[in-house]
Amino acid sequence: MRLHYNWGVREAESKRSRARRARPVNRDSFIQEWPEAGLAVFHSPADPKPSIRVENGRVVELDGRPESEFDLLDRFIARHAIDAEVAPEAMALKSRALARMMVDICIPRELVVHIASGLTPARLVEVVSHLNVLEMMMALAKLRARRTPSNQAHVTNRKEHPALLAADAAEAVERGFSELETTVGISRYAPFNALAILIGSQTGRGTALTQCAVEESLGLRLAWLGLTSYAETLSVYGTELAFRDGDDSPWSKAFLASAYASRGIKVRFTSGSGSEALMGHSEGKSMLYLEARCLMAIKGAGSQGVQNGSISCIALPESLPGGVRGVLAENLLAAMLDLELASGNDAMASHSEIRKSAKLMLQFLPGADYVFSGYSVMPREDNLFGGGNFDGEDLDDYNVLQRDMQADGGLRPITEEELLGVRRRAAEAVQAVFAELDLPPITDEEVEAAVTARASGDMPDRDVVADLAAADRFLKERRNVLDVIRALARRGFRDIAEKILAVQKLRISGDHLQTAAMVLPGPRVVSAVNDPNDYRGPGTGYQLCPAREAEINAIPQALDPRTIGTGAAAGPALQEYGPARASSDPNDIVIAVGPAFGSALRETILGLPHDEVARALIQGVAEEGLRPRLVKIYSTSDCGFIGHAGARLSGSGVAVGIQSKGTAVIHRKDLPPLDNLELFPQAPNLTLESYRVIGRNAAKYAKGEPVLPVPVTIDNMARLKYIVKTTILHLRETEQVDPDKGPQEAGYE
Ligand code: 5AD
Ligand code: CA
Repeated sequence: MRLHYNWGVREAESKRSRARRARPVNRDSFIQEWPEAGLAVFHSPADPKPSIRVENGRVVELDGRPESEFDLLDRFIARHAIDAEVAPEAMALKSRALARMMVDICIPRELVVHIASGLTPARLVEVVSHLNVLEMMMALAKLRARRTPSNQAHVTNRKEHPALLAADAAEAVERGFSELETTVGISRYAPFNALAILIGSQTGRGTALTQCAVEESLGLRLAWLGLTSYAETLSVYGTELAFRDGDDSPWSKAFLASAYASRGIKVRFTSGSGSEALMGHSEGKSMLYLEARCLMAIKGAGSQGVQNGSISCIALPESLPGGVRGVLAENLLAAMLDLELASGNDAMASHSEIRKSAKLMLQFLPGADYVFSGYSVMPREDNLFGGGNFDGEDLDDYNVLQRDMQADGGLRPITEEELLGVRRRAAEAVQAVFAELDLPPITDEEVEAAVTARASGDMPDRDVVADLAAADRFLKERRNVLDVIRALARRGFRDIAEKILAVQKLRISGDHLQTAAMVLPGPRVVSAVNDPNDYRGPGTGYQLCPAREAEINAIPQALDPRTIGTGAAAGPALQEYGPARASSDPNDIVIAVGPAFGSALRETILGLPHDEVARALIQGVAEEGLRPRLVKIYSTSDCGFIGHAGARLSGSGVAVGIQSKGTAVIHRKDLPPLDNLELFPQAPNLTLESYRVIGRNAAKYAKGEPVLPVPVTIDNMARLKYIVKTTILHLRETEQVDPDKGPQEAGYE
């Protein structure tokens, strides 16, 4: 079967096309729409027209279907997900009018949410179909439930190494993630993986909720034992047959959700476009229509939230026209329905870094309750969820994006010391708990490896058979979070023990079960109840507070510009011998240097010592038999003017001008200052050899001989790499300008 476009071999073929074909984006799959197979994002001919009929407070017709023909989802939605009182009025609104209300900053969120509670799935789709991506982003900024955005991490590794899991979890929380999700390669590892990230989640500054994505009954057991504090993978689908294949119904999912919530475990569901088509049960309906049905089922089941945005199926909508827009539309539908939104980005969406980043912006810029419903904090190879849209190696990029846009994506930059500190503490804590609970030992060597590991390949192998047997025993003996808390407290990890206990206490108050709750250090619960999104246009809604702004800005790689160019001066100082006079010697070539040359600054932007640069220029002139003379110019820091000032003193009328950063010019006194014979504006491309040739050329101009321009390498990245240093070195040079001080004879001993 051919999955990728066969570009074929053409007789005439552009080499540029061939190069483009090799680009990562062309490894992605692209297909045309095929609505009958459910391969259409926004619209399919089989999608029903929106309609509703309410009789005696009861929905008796839904999107063209009378109650007698309801399928299982229609029934659930009609009974549990539509406010029959709101419906008649809400459905009477024109969809375009409602679309405008979503974007209109004068219409409050509450009103949109109220109206949406009376809409049918088909009408919801019709409404968002009126919005382009930009409008959807505006609407999402207003409609997401919680004012403060946050982020969720994925924490897994291929060896399922508990010390590495704990260290990665601790680092993730230090970086600002407020939820951590793990899963298993081998399901029997589940209790240990849950245990490891539980310990990591309460190490250091942070506090985060944790989950372990496993088979449902095991997931529920782990939560009841207190080893996890939220559940997320309660999947729903938009057609009856897809649901049945999952051996489930909306009622059984609602029951499972209650089982979690009744024990104080936070619950969100999972849905997302593409799953029904993938299972072959799309009924020829569009992805967005089916997703609207999923979201209403989720709402009807009483869940406070959802992770959607296609999730594991993301590459399927992305293969179709409008796929990325459709994924944003489904995020927006969740927010409209007043559900907490964890907006995907948790699975590999493309081979192309450009496409991955572009997609992310749709949730990152408006903000979501959880921008990622699982940001892989490990390198890709250790991601047991099948790879994330961004991963551990992209964390610095992510922090820079937050800083660039002044957008809160939920993360914070950390220093190497913080990173190593929390990793060590978490790895030692899990080691102590394993020892205290008689589990297979974690050695000091394993702890050390976990502190600095890049990936699980850096970890020693463990005895998998012994670990799995111990994990089985752990469950059989009904070990629970209290055993873990006691073990930590006994072994000198009271701080972690107390934080884990504090999260357990939340299970009684239930504050973290409110819509869009996150648990911050304290523990402090922030949710749509005490932090409702009140965006109403510029100056309202979530704003970076000064402390958060400073935190986002303080990436460790940002240097203090005041310290650039002031470091220990390398190389000898340039000597001055008194005022320089104009010469009448036709063999005289002036090498005019800028006011910081060999004094306030001692090297060029490339790090070439000024004395060596001066010697190279002198040598070049001397090779042509002329007499070089060093003169220091104080009246200007401008390269052209330095060169021209030199030329006016030069007996031959020709001079080389050079700024301290290394930019050079060959000048002649009869030319206007801003004209020249040759200019070398890209100092980073100039080597000592270039300066020698510049000296030689200056002499040739003076002699009236033919001159071959100085060969320079072209580096298209030079400006990007050096513009900051250029700015600061030029500033330092300009600081040395003294308009009252004439040119000085100068030289090196
Ligand atoms: N719809 C429903 N469930 C999904 N999951 C992933 N993508 C979707 C989707 N589009 C579920 C998987 C698994 C967990 C990772 O989320 O079935 O349980
Ligand atoms: Ca997740």
